[in-house]
Amino acid sequence: PATAEPAPDTPQIEVFGHRGASGYRPEHTLASYELAARMGADFIEPDLVPTKDGVLVARHEPEIGGTTDVADHPEFAARKTTKVIDSTEMTGWFTEDFTLAELKTLRAKERIPDIRRNNTVYDGLYEVPTFQEVLDLRERLSEELGRDIGVAPETKHPSYFRELGLPLEPGVVEALETSSLNKEDSKVVVQSFEVGNLKELREQLRVRLVQLISNSGAPQDFIEAGDPRTYADLVKPEGLKEIATYADVIGPDTKVILPVDDSNHLTEPTTVVADAHAAGLQVVPYTVRAENTFLPADFQSSQDPAQWGDVLGLFHALYDQGVDGIFSD
Ligand code: G3P
Ligand code: CA
Repeated sequence: PATAEPAPDTPQIEVFGHRGASGYRPEHTLASYELAARMGADFIEPDLVPTKDGVLVARHEPEIGGTTDVADHPEFAARKTTKVIDSTEMTGWFTEDFTLAELKTLRAKERIPDIRRNNTVYDGLYEVPTFQEVLDLRERLSEELGRDIGVAPETKHPSYFRELGLPLEPGVVEALETSSLNKEDSKVVVQSFEVGNLKELREQLRVRLVQLISNSGAPQDFIEAGDPRTYADLVKPEGLKEIATYADVIGPDTKVILPVDDSNHLTEPTTVVADAHAAGLQVVPYTVRAENTFLPADFQSSQDPAQWGDVLGLFHALYDQGVDGIFSD
């Protein structure tokens, strides 16, 4: 549950429940989102991919072998396949090869069952939720809890799905319209790692948009268009000025703000937060969790939690940089 009120002069930031309360429940389930809201998160964060019949569902990636029990369904054995998505080869089962009705016969599960994260708790038969179901939950919880629960959908692999004839943008716009959330004062932010689809959404949405910034590489749509700019270019002052023409927020990897050396020791913070603020952009880094702490260098989630770095230390270091929010599990 949310704890005591902070001191009145404490700058407030927004907390985004990353994939829900994914440190406590299987990610991207209604149970995960509900727990995040009840724990006091300002926003819940569904990643979105499409089904074969074009319905947006909440999964971190289209491959569902790791986050559902699809491997236990002999009727779907023949759908196992290998695909290349954004230059990465993946083998498994993919949402775009399943109708919504078929997906609803699967049970969602935790990708990293880990007693230390409390997410092995299995207190229900988790389904793969649709985006509309997430918005309906948001509305119900906002009424029950007496505060506006925000929602921060992320469009995953928009160029790839556009090529398949399953563009994500119409479903995002339609669901927000259906829930009367396509308004400037809605507590909604739509995120993407790509640039072109944010520009397209800017034409249709009145809510805030978030340009996500990876710690390496380049937006997939830049790569496909032969645009040589990388994420590192986008967080330079000129890049930030351009982002401000179509987005309101940047969502950088924590290491874009707080770089580490080869031994995973914190080095000098960058000026990205101040530069983004100067460009009129808010800054909400991802993801405040044990795996992203500075030390030790060789941290793996299977190691002894006594070896984890200091999650609150990571939070405070970001807070001291003046971030406007955080994504956290
Ligand atoms: O959307 C912020 C953060 O969630 C981006 O990373 O891979 O967890 O979706 P990912
Ligand atoms: Ca995300």
